[in-house]
Amino acid sequence: PEEDLAAYFTAVVDADQKIEPRDWMPEAYRRTLIRQIAQHAHSEIIGMQPEGNWISRAPSLKRKAILLAKVQDEAGHGLYLYAAAETLGISRDELVELLLSGRQKYSSIFNYPTLTWADVGAIGWLVDGAAIVNQVPLCRCSYGPYARAMIRVCKEESFHQRQGYEILHTLAHGTSAQRAMAQDALDRWWYPSLAMFGPPDGDSTHSAQSMAWKIKRFSNDDLRQRFVDMCVGQAEVLGLTIPDPDLRWNEQRQAYDFTQPDYAELMRVISGDGPCNRERMAHRRRAHEAGAWVREAAAAYAAKQASKEKV
Ligand code: ACO
Repeated sequence: PEEDLAAYFTAVVDADQKIEPRDWMPEAYRRTLIRQIAQHAHSEIIGMQPEGNWISRAPSLKRKAILLAKVQDEAGHGLYLYAAAETLGISRDELVELLLSGRQKYSSIFNYPTLTWADVGAIGWLVDGAAIVNQVPLCRCSYGPYARAMIRVCKEESFHQRQGYEILHTLAHGTSAQRAMAQDALDRWWYPSLAMFGPPDGDSTHSAQSMAWKIKRFSNDDLRQRFVDMCVGQAEVLGLTIPDPDLRWNEQRQAYDFTQPDYAELMRVISGDGPCNRERMAHRRRAHEAGAWVREAAAAYAAKQASKEKV
């Protein structure tokens, strides 16, 4: 009976065990996971664009090889995540269609432009740094396939974070023009990175339910605070200044006080009106159309193999 299945689901979640694809789950749990995992997958795929923009202009062959590997990792993350979402009973074609028609979202952060090489460093340090803070707890999420995908994704993200930090460290210890370029990148990426964690807890539609289901393990604001606390010492080592005059240690809270990002801007970017939203979506649509022959060829090959097996 349905009540027994629901009781079993609750017991598994309460005991910190994993829900697996064939287990019974509330419809809303399934929908929330599809929404979050798909949004995460789309972010990885759209996220290839701002950095892909610099592959042909990387300052050395070594930097180019590292950046290529990193952008390919993002594609890999997108594919694991689409596969994790598919275990919930939706197909990759449907998910791609939901992205292309604008019915599913991707992270706000990828709607900002990469103006200089230092931006590639800032993305690695701050954007991938924020992704790690957000995703390490997801390794303990209650849905097995998502939690397991996150383990490898987080290991690769930590390589990405270090490569970005190293780019900024090199620039920050270079000529005065390079130092200025690094500081400018930090100035532009700081607040959009803070906004990646989502709206403040009071305005977060899904947090309470997602935390009860142990999909989310910490609230948006808790993770944002953790990120700020982590970055302060790292910025000092770089010799760069976080663009927040109110950033200061709060002895009582044992955490940094900081200025919140502009949440009205976050809402504008989420709703499609950020600096690069149109460009990102147009590029993705073009790439999808240009790749149609690959999908058709793969489907024809699979059909041929399947008919051979039958004989
Ligand atoms: N960008 C775009 N949309 C966002 C963002 C953001 N930075 N933050 C919140 N939203 C959206 C939510 O999707 C939700 O919209 P919806 O109801 O239409 O789906 C709405 O704003 C309200 O937010 P919350 O209720 O707080 O949403 P949620 O509980 O899903 O929390 C969060 C948002 C923290 C981003 C969560 O979905 C999450 O942890 N996702 C997995 C990580 C991820 O997607 N990372 C992508 C970027 S990292 C990378 O790719 C390198």
